[in-house]
Amino acid sequence: MAAQDKTPFAGAPDPGQGAQGRPLHVAIVMDGNGRRAKRRGLPRTLGHREGVEALKRTVAAAGELNIRWLTVFGFSTENWSRPAAEVAELMALPKRYFESDIARLEREGVRVRVIGRREGLSAELVKIIEGAQERTANNDRFFLNIAFNYGGQADIADAARRFAEEVATGRAKPEDLDERRFTSLLATADSPPPDVIIRPSGEQRLSNFLLWEAAYAELVFQDVLWPDYGAEHLKAALAAFSARDRRYGAIVADDVLAAG
Ligand code: IPE
Ligand code: MG
Repeated sequence: MAAQDKTPFAGAPDPGQGAQGRPLHVAIVMDGNGRRAKRRGLPRTLGHREGVEALKRTVAAAGELNIRWLTVFGFSTENWSRPAAEVAELMALPKRYFESDIARLEREGVRVRVIGRREGLSAELVKIIEGAQERTANNDRFFLNIAFNYGGQADIADAARRFAEEVATGRAKPEDLDERRFTSLLATADSPPPDVIIRPSGEQRLSNFLLWEAAYAELVFQDVLWPDYGAEHLKAALAAFSARDRRYGAIVADDVLAAG
């Protein structure tokens, strides 16, 4: 089999589909809400509300730029350690977002999925999340994954537990597990891996976002706080992405020829 026929890992995009140039799947760590508010002498909670407006702008911009998948990090399994009042504000954001935007998302062909653990969320919030998912379940123009009460390590641990249960109940054998099968057990199983992970706010780390899925993602860090994010920043991130040379551990075609 020719090297280029072999996908490097389960779920890798087909060549030309997000592999080079234009990303198929963009992931964003929405960060900098607190700093944006603090700089203007406002409470952090206001920064989070402004962050919801940035999300609306960015979803619209991503659709116009022909991106098909957008995964955003809204609340991490580690964010529970913030003060209770701030956690309460963050817990209220999905409701705020869906109440003001679900009709538009539905109309514009966006399928919404909220990935992350449901444990710890209020029954009301789970109902809101499920309502948004059901309302957009038949859409397939654009896929919006919102990571909420999500942690990459938690998701990997949950996937491992699910496979262990399959083995324990005789539905799978240990040797059935490979990268592809494992990928199918993750919360992102229905999405291709992200081509690019963007983090605004100047921080340069993944912070437990899409750890398994990030294997071959390009990383783009931008010096803008999330509430200020918009189409121009997304375009700049895509320009940075398109300048990258993605090789998935292989070497470029010219060098294959040169190597004889
Ligand atoms: C992102 O903004 C929102 C969440 C992580 C939930 P932050 O609240 O992390 O903002 P900074 O990093 O303190 O500025
Ligand atoms: Mg932060």
